[in-house]
Amino acid sequence: MNASGCLSERVHQIPPSGIRRIFDLACANPDGIDLSIGDPDIDVPKPVRDEAALSIHAGFNHYVSTRGLPELREAIATELRQRKLSFEDLLITAGATGGYYLAMMAVVSPGDEVLIVDPYFVAYANVVIMCGGVPRFIDTYPDFSLRADAIEPLITDRTRAIVLNHPGNPTGVVYTTAELRMVAELAERHGLHVVSDEIYDQFVYSQTPFTSIANVMDAAIVISGFSKRTGITGWRLGYVSGPKNVIEAMATLQQYSYVCANSIAQKAAVRALACDTSAEVEKYRARRSAFIAGLSSRFTIPKSAGAFYLFPEAPGKRADEFVDRCIEKKVFVIPGNAFSQYNTHFRLSFAVSDDKIGPAIATLNRVADEMQR
Ligand SMILES: Cc1ncc(COP(=O)(O)O)c(C=O)c1O
Repeated sequence: MNASGCLSERVHQIPPSGIRRIFDLACANPDGIDLSIGDPDIDVPKPVRDEAALSIHAGFNHYVSTRGLPELREAIATELRQRKLSFEDLLITAGATGGYYLAMMAVVSPGDEVLIVDPYFVAYANVVIMCGGVPRFIDTYPDFSLRADAIEPLITDRTRAIVLNHPGNPTGVVYTTAELRMVAELAERHGLHVVSDEIYDQFVYSQTPFTSIANVMDAAIVISGFSKRTGITGWRLGYVSGPKNVIEAMATLQQYSYVCANSIAQKAAVRALACDTSAEVEKYRARRSAFIAGLSSRFTIPKSAGAFYLFPEAPGKRADEFVDRCIEKKVFVIPGNAFSQYNTHFRLSFAVSDDKIGPAIATLNRVADEMQR
């Protein structure tokens, strides 16, 4: 029998990423405007680049500890303590995505249910499925805020975890301390893990300082990383902080999967932690303001305060038609159903150079006008 056509049951349940499909189209049309991907055009700070190059030349090209370089772990722990985050231990991971995968592998058994806030980052539900779990979705439309009455009815005796992401992809939502306390209280009462992906925590545009779930909950599992804050998405470096038993389980799983995170990136990240990112954040604040000002007369844009994204409602809530028409005009945005059980909105990433913003706004508005006729 030829086994080459036989794939696992698992992969039949996992669709390819809806972002990658449009990103590939954008790459095939380099004269278009790509608003499809959250890959920041941050100028990687020189000390970070220098340290990476030096590390390669100095022969730092080998396996390192599964848990991560001691000096990086210590530097991250210092930052987390300064921010008054609760954690007992931390693990350096292959990107935030690697951290999320290991966290789910550590806490989800086959048949367990995981509550995921909808809209959600593309990996969340699929990784739960990869672990044999069952994703359940917390509907947060229309304003994307967290409400106990949308969460509590979903909790069953199979529920193991709640997955949050703020600042959020695709919505840009940043939760209030009251919303986070409510989730922490529910989780503690029902014995659930809370896994919070806070990779955009540096990119917050409101006056109110960012609150982490670990500011209000002792046993939270917090995922973060360097892809966004340092602009090194290709270096694959993240970290997870949380309760000792969870981090230890993740470290064991890492031994047999990723082995360790990238050695060179870890060396350089010690420098990255000392770099001031405020000028980059200001750049994104200005781009976000330009998009909101340019699109508000044609689009309903739910309130947001962070990350690199806006998640406006598509004209007539017809996201596929809107996105197809934009693609015909070579502006690449993502339909809402890549991130949601609904397909009424679209995501645009404002991680795009300033010269593209005006033409992008003009095209999005023109397509909206065409669809109103
Ligand atoms: C919410 C969220 N988490 C994680 C990631 C991926 O992070 P990393 O590159 O560290 O795997 C992204 C990338 O877009 C994201 O939006």
